[in-house]
Amino acid sequence: MATAGAIRPINEDKMHAFLGKVVGDFGAALSSSLAYIGQKLGLYKAIAGDGPVTPAELAQKTSTNERYVREWLINQAAGGYVDYDAASGRYSLSPEQAVALTDEASPFFVGGGFFVVKSMTAAVSRIEDAFKNGGGMLWGEHDPDLFVGTERFFRPGYAAHLIASWIPALTGVEEKLKAGAKVADIGCGHGSSTIIMAQAYPNSRFWGFDNHEKSIETAQQRAKDSGVADRVTFGVANASEFPDQQYDLVTFFDCLHDMGDPKGACKRAAEVLAPDGSALIVEPMAGNTVEENFNIIGRTFSGASTLCCTSNSLALKGPALGAVAPESAIREVVLAGGFSQFRRATETPFNRIFEARK
Ligand SMILES: C[S@@+](CC[C@H](N)C(=O)[O-])C[C@H]1O[C@@H](n2cnc3c(N)ncnc32)[C@H](O)[C@@H]1O
Repeated sequence: MATAGAIRPINEDKMHAFLGKVVGDFGAALSSSLAYIGQKLGLYKAIAGDGPVTPAELAQKTSTNERYVREWLINQAAGGYVDYDAASGRYSLSPEQAVALTDEASPFFVGGGFFVVKSMTAAVSRIEDAFKNGGGMLWGEHDPDLFVGTERFFRPGYAAHLIASWIPALTGVEEKLKAGAKVADIGCGHGSSTIIMAQAYPNSRFWGFDNHEKSIETAQQRAKDSGVADRVTFGVANASEFPDQQYDLVTFFDCLHDMGDPKGACKRAAEVLAPDGSALIVEPMAGNTVEENFNIIGRTFSGASTLCCTSNSLALKGPALGAVAPESAIREVVLAGGFSQFRRATETPFNRIFEARK
């Protein structure tokens, strides 16, 4: 057994492999910041629309400084986000890169993720302080790019799966929504899930609640812009106190694990559901054991959880379920909140979709 202070022999190949990984991570972190700039300034869209381009052409098309653009393009090509043709000195996007980086209507669009990473990185000093002194950081205290980024990052998945497979996986819910039902979407953020449901089920009536006032203002605007304001009402409310309408469906999209009082939120959902109503709870596809998180998804979720989800709950002295809460932890809180039935209705590589009934 090694004793404290003993020098353990180093395997040079393993050392180089590990250092290579670390340098790759340095590059990835810096490239993520540059990808955020590319999203904000429309650099990817310009390459997709007008490529292949030289740095000077891209700068001219986007009214940006050529010297920065030239450096940015080298970084992006080194990371595999754009392609480079050495013979012509031009950069382009493959069809796959173009869809993932520019097509907001595609389920493969990942552009919102760079906003999320940028905003969570900005929270580092606050979270470092919380490591030492306790407490946390509320959702609403983050850089506002978190709210836009979350909407842009999650919306493609909801657009692809919510109507096509998640609602149909629940017991008898699709029929009710088609005929005309009452739905409350809790922790709705900018309301993308609420609006997608309202567009699909015009006979139903929807309420979206979130305790972050600025998000609700944006959600109200989104409802007007999407032409569903006649059947969607967004309001500021805490998950454990939102108004009672005896709903047929209460939904929680990627928010229960963030909450200061997830049990109170489930208790309120059970109280305000009609007797045969259902709750739809969408949660990250976390590992059910610690080691099941040791992959790229678990790395991303646990990182976001440390910087945002866990810290929101800890700021409220909550149980801090976090984004890598195993299925058993979600089940426990839902059943403790007053539901008697809980099952995994379906799943995607990124999410578990649960149904709870009274
Ligand atoms: C990760 S975001 C998800 C937003 C939205 N559901 C989506 O999928 O785009 C979590 C949301 O939960 C909201 N939230 C957290 N705790 C809440 C509470 N106690 N009551 C109401 N909303 C809450 C936050 O304000 C934030 O908008």
